[in-house]
Amino acid sequence: MISSMHVNPFQQAISVHWQTGAMEGREVKESRKLLGDLKGIFLDEAACASADANTVVYRVKWWQPSEPGSEGGLFWGVTAIESGKVGDECFMTHGHFHANSTRAEYYTTAQGEGRLLLMDRERKTWAEVMSPGSLHYIDGRYAHRVVNAGSVPLIFWACWPSDAGYDYGTIAKEGFGARILEQNGEVLVIPQTEISIKN
Ligand code: 6PG
Ligand code: NI
Repeated sequence: MISSMHVNPFQQAISVHWQTGAMEGREVKESRKLLGDLKGIFLDEAACASADANTVVYRVKWWQPSEPGSEGGLFWGVTAIESGKVGDECFMTHGHFHANSTRAEYYTTAQGEGRLLLMDRERKTWAEVMSPGSLHYIDGRYAHRVVNAGSVPLIFWACWPSDAGYDYGTIAKEGFGARILEQNGEVLVIPQTEISIKN
């Protein structure tokens, strides 16, 4: 017999479904990013302007059992990025540095195919392939952006410290050092320097 003493009455009723990215519970927060919210991040501004601004690009659900900014806690979340493109460029997240560069993060892919773009403060940029089961350790010094390079929603789980914080400003201003394009069915990592030359 299991005594009630072994049941934590304060346990939060949060449940996750690994494959679909479902995450439920009273304390689960949710945000949606529409194409209209992502102005300026895609290369082809004309294609972005002519697309429906209400198109959902990605959704995030997360649980923060401790105060954001407090030390020692961990947050848990899931992001689902729709499959789609703006011009040749695949749908992606804003991307950010953690405000506290000593705070790392884990990502693991549940569904879909994509690229995790990572960039250091010197703008050196590289990509890791995301596919079901891939696990990604993101050093706290590196900016991170996820790109859906496939034909189904890209779903990944994340775990990060409660005091990681966000620096979106640097990416909004300077972008990443590379872009992920899809041309003739091929996924290409194009350094920003090459794109500038072409323009
Ligand atoms: C975090 C995680 C992750 C991320 C989402 C959306 O630090 O919270 O990296 O939950 O916020 O995948 O990406 P953006 O925050 O870059 O829009
Ligand atoms: Ni992060």
